[in-house]
Amino acid sequence: MTIKNLLFASLLTASTGMAAQDVVNLPKPDMKAKSMSVVEALRTRHSVREYATTRITNQQLSNLCWAACGVSRDNDHRTAPSALNKKEIRLYVFTEKAVYEYEPVANRLNVKAKGDHRGLMAGGKAGFKQVFAQEAPVSLLMVIDLERFGQQSEQAIRMGCVDAGNVSENINLYCQSVGLATVPRATMDTEGIRALLKLSDKQIPIMNNPVGWPKK
Ligand SMILES: Cc1cc2nc3c(=O)[nH]c(=O)nc-3n(C[C@H](O)[C@H](O)[C@H](O)COP(=O)(O)O)c2cc1C
Repeated sequence: MTIKNLLFASLLTASTGMAAQDVVNLPKPDMKAKSMSVVEALRTRHSVREYATTRITNQQLSNLCWAACGVSRDNDHRTAPSALNKKEIRLYVFTEKAVYEYEPVANRLNVKAKGDHRGLMAGGKAGFKQVFAQEAPVSLLMVIDLERFGQQSEQAIRMGCVDAGNVSENINLYCQSVGLATVPRATMDTEGIRALLKLSDKQIPIMNNPVGWPKK
């Protein structure tokens, strides 16, 4: 590393509390990528539980995260609606390299845990497991953050569940429209995820979408 790079890295760390290598700046989402119409995506959308090993590029990841809950217009409005515009759904991205949190405004991924933790998507230690989920190149995890919602009432939890469903359906329709394969899922190792991501008791892992290219 050159002195200039070192200086830049330490400045970044000092200003954000984050090391440079802990951040992946995504390319701008490609709004002109070839895709089918919403009506066609609605007509053909279906759950897919088998994926090719072909990797997902950072450009595709950027498009996917943007479609899920990225910034769509002024005042930090998002592609997915949320109750009272609270934007309480945190989106985590599991890949073979690490687990990241998507930061919509900066359009970047912040590393939360290094290494391959996709196994947590298969299911809990005991009980029902779906091994296909850990074989998808990417899994998107939705976490309801009640701190962001500003309440922890039953009603807030219900709204969080609905808002996670909105994000998940954006992922479903976006995937269908560009030829990616996915399935919305509740199955996962919730306790393992809580421990890995150091989630508080006000942060609830609620759904995930494994994403990959369809197996030929
Ligand atoms: C809230 C929710 C939770 C789901 N959880 C799972 C799951 O854990 N595992 C799974 O394989 N499919 C899961 N699914 C997918 C459904 O089984 C699937 O959407 C349904 O069978 C209809 O099939 P289709 O998506 O192809 O129309 C879930 C769907 C929803 C909406």
